[in-house]
Amino acid sequence: MMMTDTRNPSSFFWSARLNTSVCGTSSTINCQIYWPGEIDLEMLSELHKKHPGVTVDNEVVEPSRQQLYNYKVLVSQKPDLDYIKFNWNTMTASEFEEHWKAEKATKKVDFIHMIQMLYYVKDPEATVRFFQGLLGKNGKLLIILVSGKSGWGKLWRTYRAQLCQPDISQCVTTGDIKSFLDSKGVRYQSYELPSQMDITECFTEGDEKGELLLDFLTEVLDFSNTASPELRAGVLEMLRHPDCSVESNGKVIFNNNLEAISLDQLS
Ligand SMILES: C[S@@+](CC[C@H](N)C(=O)[O-])C[C@H]1O[C@@H](n2cnc3c(N)ncnc32)[C@H](O)[C@@H]1O
Repeated sequence: MMMTDTRNPSSFFWSARLNTSVCGTSSTINCQIYWPGEIDLEMLSELHKKHPGVTVDNEVVEPSRQQLYNYKVLVSQKPDLDYIKFNWNTMTASEFEEHWKAEKATKKVDFIHMIQMLYYVKDPEATVRFFQGLLGKNGKLLIILVSGKSGWGKLWRTYRAQLCQPDISQCVTTGDIKSFLDSKGVRYQSYELPSQMDITECFTEGDEKGELLLDFLTEVLDFSNTASPELRAGVLEMLRHPDCSVESNGKVIFNNNLEAISLDQLS
């Protein structure tokens, strides 16, 4: 499988942040909340490059102990992070919300990022609403998910009932997020982040890598052997449909675009 990912959320974010009063005039970023991974650490590093004197009070929210442990290892291996005070929260976004409300916390947040995370919450709209409500003046909430215009969007709109397991993932795209923001008149900025994936091997039945890739795309373990022949055929047809992929030089290239949505403080 070949994946070309040209997203660059870090530079997107920090160029957006340069206009904010907190970065510009204060020596403290009051608070960041986010769900951790490599990309998150990269963003902190970009922040530090732009604002070397700034200290960061940082809430990390992550329900998986293993993920949190992995992230702590990453953090411990990275030198010079003493400008950050990490608060580790082993909990889901909604548990964090409950804690926040129970503590009647009033502190305002400068930056919240949810990168490839909102799929996993039970109610993405309520989650966005709560966290947007925590933003201070000039604060930003950054959401990155697969784009509604990506192959994922088309696949999930067509086969949601058969493929999506709501206990695990809501199969939500930025199209869904933008729909509810539009319906509530909430303003936002959005940026398409081009990304593509070579899925040619999926179309060779029995190919080991192709079958694994099909499991990844459908989010179903052993999809070829557990799906009905009609569903398997329909999904394969959909995956090479022009709404999902382009075919070029004998390769099927899946549209894996992501999209970033940036929200301001609620007005
Ligand atoms: C696809 S990973 C993304 C990690 C990181 N932000 C990145 O982009 O590399 C999704 C993360 O969301 C976490 N997660 C799952 N359910 C969650 C929930 N209900 N609330 C908060 N985080 C959740 C997962 O444990 C996982 O670490």
